[in-house]
Amino acid sequence: MNRKIVIAVDGPAGSGKSSISRVVAAKKDLKYIDSGAVYRAITWHVLDSYGSVDGDAAHHNDLGNIGITQEFSPDGQVKTFIGNRDVSMLIRDEKIAANIGTIADSREIRNFVNTLLRGWADKDSVIMDGRDVGTVIFPTADLKIYLDASADIRALRRIKEYRELGKNVDENSVKKQIIQRDSEDTSRKFGALIKAEDAIYLDTTTLTKDEVIDRIIELITIKI
Ligand code: DC
Repeated sequence: MNRKIVIAVDGPAGSGKSSISRVVAAKKDLKYIDSGAVYRAITWHVLDSYGSVDGDAAHHNDLGNIGITQEFSPDGQVKTFIGNRDVSMLIRDEKIAANIGTIADSREIRNFVNTLLRGWADKDSVIMDGRDVGTVIFPTADLKIYLDASADIRALRRIKEYRELGKNVDENSVKKQIIQRDSEDTSRKFGALIKAEDAIYLDTTTLTKDEVIDRIIELITIKI
């Protein structure tokens, strides 16, 4: 691909956005940007600094100084940093998922994140995943995909992911959390999860990861 392109991949928690986007990025020589990891890193920072995301802590104004960065390596690995500290593992904790709603609801924080993410996509062709990439961050993206799957299958995928990270999680609490996050993500006042009108809807419930990757690569070939 010679010209700079932007591919937006949105969808609910556990729909496979991240694992699929990073493989597509590696195969198509794109930079992968994980927008959810930025909200997670901010949540981690607020919890670490203030002990809670409630009250003024969620509206603090030092975000510009904490130095959030992300590195994507062409083998499909993504790392998120706060300053020099690699927080990639820390931000995958269940405690982050349980507290992230308050952070992601904040309009100031969303504005900060959107500006940061647009800057990261400034020079390279990118595939970015999240909730509002195709609607708010890049409304003119070259290709928009909305990945979906049933809540049960998404919960099972998250449980597998946690277990692969060596975490012992309670299945019921993960399912509850997926349902809670769906409700938070779709009802958010700013940046709610909603399919962009021009996004292509892909239900991955009965598809394998490879089938979804092939379909997206096919769409890139057809549409771009
Ligand atoms: O993609 P993820 O599950 O790591 O995202 C975690 C949370 O971050 C998600 O539940 C809501 C928030 N988020 C958001 O509000 N907007 C985005 N573009 C990406 C994530």
